[in-house]
Amino acid sequence: QAEIDVRRKKIAILGLGGTIAGRSSHPGDNLGYGAGEIAVTDLLQSLPASELVSFDLVSVQVAQLDSKDMDFSVWRRLLLVVGQHLAQADVGAVVITHGTDTLEETAWFLHLALDPGLTAAKPVVLTCAMRPASSRSADGPQNLLDALAVARLPQARGVVAVCTGAIHAAADVQKVHTYRLQAFDSGDAGALGYVEEGSVRMLRAWPTPPAQRSCKAASDIAASDAWPRVEVVLNDAGADGYVVDALIEHGLRVGRPVRGIVVAGTGNGTVHVALEGALCRAQEAGVRVVRSTRCAYGRVLPLVDQVLADSAGMSPVKARIAMLLALI
Ligand code: SIN
Repeated sequence: QAEIDVRRKKIAILGLGGTIAGRSSHPGDNLGYGAGEIAVTDLLQSLPASELVSFDLVSVQVAQLDSKDMDFSVWRRLLLVVGQHLAQADVGAVVITHGTDTLEETAWFLHLALDPGLTAAKPVVLTCAMRPASSRSADGPQNLLDALAVARLPQARGVVAVCTGAIHAAADVQKVHTYRLQAFDSGDAGALGYVEEGSVRMLRAWPTPPAQRSCKAASDIAASDAWPRVEVVLNDAGADGYVVDALIEHGLRVGRPVRGIVVAGTGNGTVHVALEGALCRAQEAGVRVVRSTRCAYGRVLPLVDQVLADSAGMSPVKARIAMLLALI
């Protein structure tokens, strides 16, 4: 079999919608637009032809949504499509165009759920935009070109996000700003690297798949249509246990029991004594409970004699995904 030049391997571009595919009737309007309106093929066609000649691209519209509406059926489909493309010998990478609002969740989901043999060898690059494609100063085209620059690197691997010239690991990336183009950050860990005029400058190693897999094979996750119910609750001044009790009671009543709860605690994952009481009761009744923090930076440090496990550095939304996958 003839060897394929790794630099000329195909890159599969999967469209999921988001602001990068958004359209407004006024080019000056960066707020009043519809996300997920432009097909991924049209996004590619809007890039300068001179920038694309060196790529061999194939595109698939997996979904077309505002990522605030992301749901498990889209994730299941995405998991299959990403896996199918990565498994092809002539495909070198997958790029996903995605909304910014839940990008960190999809990235973390793929990091945990994709079969490790695939992500250990090839990259999955998520990219996005803060301004719609119709904007007179759209950021999507440059972000997409930067994502392609990362995707074509023979040494690139793992699930990463590329936005405003920064490369973030799925484990660290968070949306931290509601409006600025530079909306993503990797917290204490910092960016993995940067894309500068089409060249990639790495500061840290490419992400590797989890050392110990804590969930089923990707095909089983994608095939399961009964994902467990895992909820996030918030600790704040005046919090009580009512919301936890209500969740448990509701789950039992509708026959969809709550299997796990992540509490977005204050500070170092601390929880109001009344809320903690309800969480402990839930845990005793068999619900998995984990303490994360509502702080944007830092991780919950383990406490001596802790009754509720900490989230091992995961943000509330990422801890929820890890728990969901572990419970399927
Ligand atoms: C979305 O998340 O789909 C809309 C917002 C955005 O992409 O910035």
